[in-house]
Amino acid sequence: MRNLSWGFILLVFSTQLLHLDAFELRKGQKTERISGSAGDVLEDDPVGRLKVFVYELPSKYNKKILQKDPRCLNHMFAAEIYMHRFLLSSPVRTLNPEEADWFYTPVYTTCDLTPNGLPLPFKSPRMMRSAIQLISSNWPYWNRTEGADHFFIVPHDFGACFHYQEEKAIERGILPLLQRATLVQTFGQRNHVCLKEGSITVPPYAPPQKMQSHLIPPSIPRSIFVYFRGLFYDVGNDPEGGYYARGARAAVWENFKDNPLFDISTEHPTTYYEDMQRAVFCLCPLGWAPWSPRLVEAVIFGCIPVIIADDIVLPFADAIPWEDIGVYVDEKDVPNLDTILTSIPTEVILRKQRLLANPSMKQAMLFPHPAQPGDAFHQILNGLARKLPHDKSVYLRKGEKVLNWTAGPLADLKPW
Ligand SMILES: *[C@@H]1O[C@H](CO)[C@@H](O)[C@H](O)[C@H]1NC(C)=O
Ligand SMILES: *[C@@H]1O[C@H](CO)[C@@H](O)[C@H](O)[C@H]1NC(C)=O
Repeated sequence: MRNLSWGFILLVFSTQLLHLDAFELRKGQKTERISGSAGDVLEDDPVGRLKVFVYELPSKYNKKILQKDPRCLNHMFAAEIYMHRFLLSSPVRTLNPEEADWFYTPVYTTCDLTPNGLPLPFKSPRMMRSAIQLISSNWPYWNRTEGADHFFIVPHDFGACFHYQEEKAIERGILPLLQRATLVQTFGQRNHVCLKEGSITVPPYAPPQKMQSHLIPPSIPRSIFVYFRGLFYDVGNDPEGGYYARGARAAVWENFKDNPLFDISTEHPTTYYEDMQRAVFCLCPLGWAPWSPRLVEAVIFGCIPVIIADDIVLPFADAIPWEDIGVYVDEKDVPNLDTILTSIPTEVILRKQRLLANPSMKQAMLFPHPAQPGDAFHQILNGLARKLPHDKSVYLRKGEKVLNWTAGPLADLKPW
């Protein structure tokens, strides 16, 4: 009975041609804006609202590292590199630090890859500390606020906690020297030691050209109800089970592996991007961290993201109406996922699809080169601009010190 009615609804979708072109909307295609939030805020132009000074660092902190391993340009933490390139030629850049609202230190702390291409954060604390030592001794601006008017891009799993295992990340906490700075990071979870108040949560980097090259004609119907590709268990790192994804992915597999509405598998097909464009719902469960590139892919490909990650803070949540475009499912409710999704009224689904078709929503998820108005670079600047002017309390009295330069694990204090 349920399958029958879904067959009907899928037919309705296909006849209404709600298949969304990821980057450019055709004339006459139905989209919807949410007044006062998405669209309006996303289309803000940051130029003229803030000035950013880019510290010039020796190339061993950025360009040389990248030369050694160009793979750093393609992994999901690559925003740290593209943001640097973007700022160097951005009209918000000022060469006069005296008139700057924000200071940016270009360090590529996640460009340290295993042979398999996995970025490791183990050198990051020493490298970051070394860069801060350098800027604080060569310019007067760090000491003025101890970093409160400085922002850093820290895109690794748990941001400036610099570890990929949550327990270790929590134990480490945010690097002591970054405790006054504004952190721009992919990690976001409420009430978590690795998310500082005032941080800006950004999407992970996903390759814009590659995604564009996989677009399929919008007339192809969304004939898959629920789609997911990825791990359900991480046997290597979590042999007992239950720790990886807090068991949520395992629950997806155990409950729905034989359900015909669920197209789920560990196998990553070459048609992965195309398949997302053929699906109504795309599962975005937590993995080791709450976020994953699936969120970006779902928005780009117009597949309603089903967010399974309790307390997640989503990218640019002050500008993007995630509740309206996505579906949130509590981790504990995964066994009821089929009922939850089949109970969503068709008109609600259609509205989510119309909102997802909004090109400003897609643009905000991407770090394109060259940059484009409204893209993720611009949303980061918008976020920084909205924090201005700085409160007077960020400026320290002469000689006043707040940060503890010798706090943290001893190994982090070794010179880099
Ligand atoms: C900033 O303060 C540190 C001591 O905490 C000092 O070593 C450094 O020289 C100061 N920087 C400047 C530019 O005065
Ligand atoms: C700074 O941190 C170190 C290491 O945790 C601690 O021993 C020291 O007492 C701290 N200094 C201050 C001034 O709090």
